Amino acid sequence: MKGIGDKVWDRLIWNSQHNRMGWGGNAGIVDGINEEELNRFLIKVEWLHTELKALNPKTIWEIGTNYGSWSWLLYNTLEEFHLLTCDIVEGSREEIGFINEYYQKENVEFFHQSSEAFLKGRSGADLVWMDGNHEEEWVKREILWIEATKAPIVWIDDWSWWEIRKGVEESGTNYKLDRMSPNGDVAIMRLEGVSQ
Ligand SMILES: C[S@@+](CC[C@H](N)C(=O)[O-])C[C@H]1O[C@@H](n2cnc3c(N)ncnc32)[C@H](O)[C@@H]1O
Repeated sequence: MKGIGDKVWDRLIWNSQHNRMGWGGNAGIVDGINEEELNRFLIKVEWLHTELKALNPKTIWEIGTNYGSWSWLLYNTLEEFHLLTCDIVEGSREEIGFINEYYQKENVEFFHQSSEAFLKGRSGADLVWMDGNHEEEWVKREILWIEATKAPIVWIDDWSWWEIRKGVEESGTNYKLDRMSPNGDVAIMRLEGVSQ
């Protein structure tokens, strides 16, 4: 895949190894903490790359910017896109600045906001990458804030975590599980009754 080994990739790996505490111990989809983890994540990244190419979304929102792995993936997958991404950690801004500068584009816009403030009153996403606070009670509320924006498709990371699954399943959301990634780690959800 294009992008593996570029300067942004190196920085993602460095952040995952030396700076994950900057985000409360949270790492991104590119995680080089050890070889086994990196290989596991690479399988997921390749799958996401293929799915994104097929869907070709234009306006994408991300909950949980972290050190910018998703931005790296989009720059190396889609020709045209606008990513609006939010995180409660201000340090994500510098990472997004570095990534935009490296690719010499301004396709990624960072919001230093919690998902609640970011989502409320917003509309127009083709795809939401839900990957922020993983606590069950938060997930339960967040999926409903996303639903209120009428985003037709949500991809949920870490679907294999019971907290995430339970939060979504008990929220009463109208997003229905379409399918999962081969390792069960990402769920593709679609909003019932919305044309896509
Ligand atoms: C697993 S990481 C995200 C990885 C990233 N999305 C990727 O694809 O590589 C989770 C991130 O969510 C952020 N976060 C936690 N609570 C949040 C909230 N309420 N709103 C937005 N971001 C939040 C954390 O600071 C952390 O950076």
